[in-house]
Amino acid sequence: MIKKLLLLCSGGDAPGMNAVIRAAVRTALYHHVTVFGAESGYCGLLNQKIFPLTGASVANCIMRGGTILKTGRCLDFHKKPIRDQCREFLRQQKIDALIVLGGNGSFAGASLIEKEGGPRVIGIPCTIDNDINGTEYCIGFDTARNTALSAIDKIRDTAFSLDRNFIIEIMGRESGFLAVDVGIAGGAEIILIPEFPTSTEQLIKKIQSKRRQKLGSLIVAAEAGEPNSSIRIAKDIKARTDIEYKTCILGHIQRGGTPTVMDRKLGSEMGAQAVAALLNDQSQCLTAVKAGKITLVPFSDPQNATRFFNDDMLLQLNEIICESK
Ligand code: F6P
Repeated sequence: MIKKLLLLCSGGDAPGMNAVIRAAVRTALYHHVTVFGAESGYCGLLNQKIFPLTGASVANCIMRGGTILKTGRCLDFHKKPIRDQCREFLRQQKIDALIVLGGNGSFAGASLIEKEGGPRVIGIPCTIDNDINGTEYCIGFDTARNTALSAIDKIRDTAFSLDRNFIIEIMGRESGFLAVDVGIAGGAEIILIPEFPTSTEQLIKKIQSKRRQKLGSLIVAAEAGEPNSSIRIAKDIKARTDIEYKTCILGHIQRGGTPTVMDRKLGSEMGAQAVAALLNDQSQCLTAVKAGKITLVPFSDPQNATRFFNDDMLLQLNEIICESK
């Protein structure tokens, strides 16, 4: 029987986290479970900063980006003695279940805290990178891709008017899901993602191909663990071809803003399902979308926790539909 639940957000924020929090708090209260929130993720456990969450405390947050709990990247949580300290704090506070909103690193920590003797844990996938193994969808992705797309549409106006080429850099540390979706929807002729690396030679061949040579061309490039890489790519192209590409790094604006219907609705469902799962004695799982339905899947082995884009055909199709000659 769960009596006291703690919610925390960890890693990068994702639009829709507040919908998750609101649904989890109100579902738990409905089942007579007391709810607390930790401030700034695992740092909140370490600094003993937790606070009660009431039904009223989550009012008017569903439409806000970011997270009302604040989030954090707590590197110390990788250390067992620090986790022991946090677990002892949770024991003293009589917390018997934990819901963690975050990505792969956050779930690795969550899984360990339970395995090492702490409260039961459920994860809710929240990252604009949409790269968590086991789920087809992570909260925040839809808002981020719409934010990025609206920026690309604006860049296209100036690209067309001045016959300028652009490289637009999109977030995505290890996976190209965000770049692929906004690249196709934004009409980018070339999409660069880490899963299918493109050498400078290959890129230049594509740019110089007669069938696609046009001014006002757009390349969408995933950040791929190298923020600002678009500047290097533009310099390489200029040095070898004298063709100029302006760069636009969308950066953290992709993480903020009003969550879309999809992120609010799925976030609400996942928040409620996470509480239901804990009440049903389940743990060591994340809420996941599989074949369009919300379900529970076990946490992945941390070595194999990242989901990668693998649809090469989709990228080829995009190159064909962007040819204008
Ligand atoms: O949330 C995922 C992500 O936005 C990645 O796409 C990006 O590489 C990273 O977080 C940046 O994180 P931060 O600047 O907050 O450390």
